[in-house]
Amino acid sequence: MTVDTPFRVERSFLARCLSLLGRAVRPLVRKIVYRNPHALVMWTFLGPLVSSSVYSLVKLGVIDDLKTNGPKTTKDLADAAIVDEDSLYRILRALASIGYLNQLADGRFELTPVSELLLQDHPESFHGMATLYGDVVVSDMSNFPETLKTGTSVVELNNGGKTFWQLLEQQPVTAGAFDRQMATWTQLHAATVTKSYDFSSARSVVDIGGGRGTMMREILVANPQAKGVILDRPEVVIQTKQQMEQAGLADRCECVGGSFFESVPEGADLYVIKHVLHDWDDQHAVQILRNVRKAMRPDSRLLIIEGLVEHDYAFGEFFRTWWDILQLSHTLGRSRTAEQMKSMLQRTGFRLDSLKPTSLPDVLILEIRPVPIDFEDEAPEKADEPLAESTLVRATDEPGSSAQWTPE
Ligand SMILES: C[S@@+](CC[C@H](N)C(=O)[O-])C[C@H]1O[C@@H](n2cnc3c(N)ncnc32)[C@H](O)[C@@H]1O
Repeated sequence: MTVDTPFRVERSFLARCLSLLGRAVRPLVRKIVYRNPHALVMWTFLGPLVSSSVYSLVKLGVIDDLKTNGPKTTKDLADAAIVDEDSLYRILRALASIGYLNQLADGRFELTPVSELLLQDHPESFHGMATLYGDVVVSDMSNFPETLKTGTSVVELNNGGKTFWQLLEQQPVTAGAFDRQMATWTQLHAATVTKSYDFSSARSVVDIGGGRGTMMREILVANPQAKGVILDRPEVVIQTKQQMEQAGLADRCECVGGSFFESVPEGADLYVIKHVLHDWDDQHAVQILRNVRKAMRPDSRLLIIEGLVEHDYAFGEFFRTWWDILQLSHTLGRSRTAEQMKSMLQRTGFRLDSLKPTSLPDVLILEIRPVPIDFEDEAPEKADEPLAESTLVRATDEPGSSAQWTPE
């Protein structure tokens, strides 16, 4: 049985201002757009052309070449990349028209702050995202109408039934781009999260689907009392381990290769699930939450960190509602509303205590505590991913009823 209690929503002054501003300007923006609807329609169709052009320059190394060698002529860039000069010029010209590049008076092209974000070594690089879009997203989206009919993701339709995660297992270059992008993305979030939430009472922290460990690194550096465990797919944690070693945190962090559909390290003070649940439909997300719930002690806490549809202050509903389409098409996941998240938590033995927006869009911190639940009373969720025996049977709230994870 779960108890339905209201949760607190903490909103900073800045967040409230941004939200109000977003709402205030929306009708104005609509008015402007409706006066010239053709412009918006045309822009819509430019989307894949822009991302494919960006992908081409990234893949051919043109963007990195411009950083290393400064402004260059099209001929020099084409010679270095071994591509047709005229075709390359047309891409450079098109990208310059929307601010990705700057064309100097002598005809040479140089990077702008926008294209600098595509450099491989930029600390906030979108290089991985450009690669992922070109390798997977743009081509697979042609199957989107079929996804709506069949409920099968575009990735599965395009890759003989392989899910996005299975595809990554077989395509190490794309997988590397994805993991790198997640790490960089989280680099943008991590400091904000550690400033917005007090981790000081947590001696043990488990990051579920923690990727290359960017979030954990920040938590451990800011909280010397804490030790961590990162659970992710086996092929990911090989990299995670290296990252932790490089950060000098190997002795404070265990990297566990496995699946959160099977089990989750038990008995930690705090569990973190950052930008994971939105990758999954409700059935799978519920399985993940159940496994976390079963691994927790009664006094453990859970933080879910991701965006919610109606809490997307900076861009109105622009970002989350469109990211939702990427999730729907590629992983059959979804962006959830606060009510949808709350209801899923209630079904899995949790209570949402508070919902804390941060200064970043897409980074809300949901503080959650376990409440008593008996999973035996519930029919098991049906899902495609195999479930481990243990996930289908028990969960009790008795301390010591299951092996407790203790940091060494
Ligand atoms: C969108 S990424 C988020 C990564 C990280 N939490 C962050 O915010 O940077 C989702 C993560 O879930 C991991 N993942 C996917 N399926 C998994 C599974 N069955 N078990 C454990 N991790 C999984 C992926 O490898 C990936 O690192």
